[in-house]
Amino acid sequence: MSLLRDQHIILGITGGIAAYKAAELARRLKDEGALVQVVMTDAAKSFISPLTMQAVSGRAVRDTLLDPAAEAGMGHIELGRWADLVLVAPTSADFIAKLANGMASDLLSTVCLATSAPVFLAPAMNQAMWQKPATQRNVTTLQADGIMILGPTIGDQACGDVGPGRMMEPHDILNALLAQTASGSMQGLNVVITAGPTWEALDPVRGLSNHSSGKMGYAVASAAAAAGANVHLISGPTALTPPKRVRLSSVRSAEEMFEAVQTAHSPCDIFIGVAAVADYRPQTVQTSKIKKNDDRLTLELVKNPDILSWVATQSPRPFTVGFAAETDQPIEHARNKRRNKGLDLIAVNQVGEALNPFGSDENQLVLIGQNEEIDLGRKSKAQLAIDLIETIAKKYHEQHKT
Ligand code: PMT
Repeated sequence: MSLLRDQHIILGITGGIAAYKAAELARRLKDEGALVQVVMTDAAKSFISPLTMQAVSGRAVRDTLLDPAAEAGMGHIELGRWADLVLVAPTSADFIAKLANGMASDLLSTVCLATSAPVFLAPAMNQAMWQKPATQRNVTTLQADGIMILGPTIGDQACGDVGPGRMMEPHDILNALLAQTASGSMQGLNVVITAGPTWEALDPVRGLSNHSSGKMGYAVASAAAAAGANVHLISGPTALTPPKRVRLSSVRSAEEMFEAVQTAHSPCDIFIGVAAVADYRPQTVQTSKIKKNDDRLTLELVKNPDILSWVATQSPRPFTVGFAAETDQPIEHARNKRRNKGLDLIAVNQVGEALNPFGSDENQLVLIGQNEEIDLGRKSKAQLAIDLIETIAKKYHEQHKT
């Protein structure tokens, strides 16, 4: 069950181009079972319509501070009490400045001031505005006041600039919220996680890889960190921002990943291999770009080390969990893989037309152990990762009972 189920969430929207992402965010929060009340500033309504937000949240949008229709005309107090959590996404530089100075000049800023619920801000603005000392001062003030700042990320901006100021993507915001509400079931444990694809170079410009985006592995790392683990994430090339409170080692090839795992695995209590590691690599890597002189090109491939199997034979041996992406007879193949690799658990996802786990924000997992199989169902990768971490923690503690 999602940790956000039945939670009362106020989704505040301020004026900025990233406001269009608020509709996706509201939908994702609803998918987690949260009750979402949207509160918009006047500027936000120039970027996304209240009607759209009403349709996706299932509730009429609130936007007026002095609202005779609200309980005793004090909508801000009523909303502030109702909220379990307030999330403002996007948060403009102006709104940050307002909150940092305790101003309450519209419904949203007044709710933020009136509520005792945790407040999260996902800033979005031009990179120069974000980097200005005034904004940075305001952000520091808000953090000191206990307000949590999610992002922003670095990248291309709507104004044509490149730099810090993009709002975090809705699924990353959701991950961060889920992380804040997680359980502590892995408190103090050392957990190593592999994620993403590997890149097996053919020459300086080409290589062999696969469609793994890293989303599943990063979500697992985020959930483990939220559960209190010291997480070392060893990742192949991805376009993702590493989760907070996670140590990241970036690698490219399977051999580099193996080397990083060999260094990281000790002392490690739990190892989770989510990466889609290439089974083979080109025998030779050409130092110059391969020319297309011939009609045919034959590549000689050699086997890569099996990282997971190696981990499972170490002493002391960590609780070892693998993943399997299968196109046919997933359960059958995964059972064999678990046995052959000597794993405690394997999480299997089917690659099919109905749902392709590669790159998607959703997935469907069945967890297979020696004596049981647990269907974790189809959910967001963020929620699946939390459920997976809770199950792994439970099994780990059962195994280590004295
Ligand atoms: O990254 P995303 O886009 O979010 O997609 C997630 C995912 C589909 C990649 C992920 O959920 C997943 O299924 N990962 C495992 C992919 C796979 O098919 O693995 P495999 O069957 O090749 O290997 C089985 C296990 O052995 C995996 O845990 C793998 O990390 C590990 N392995 C494999 C080969 C190798 N040389 N070393 C390994 O450690």
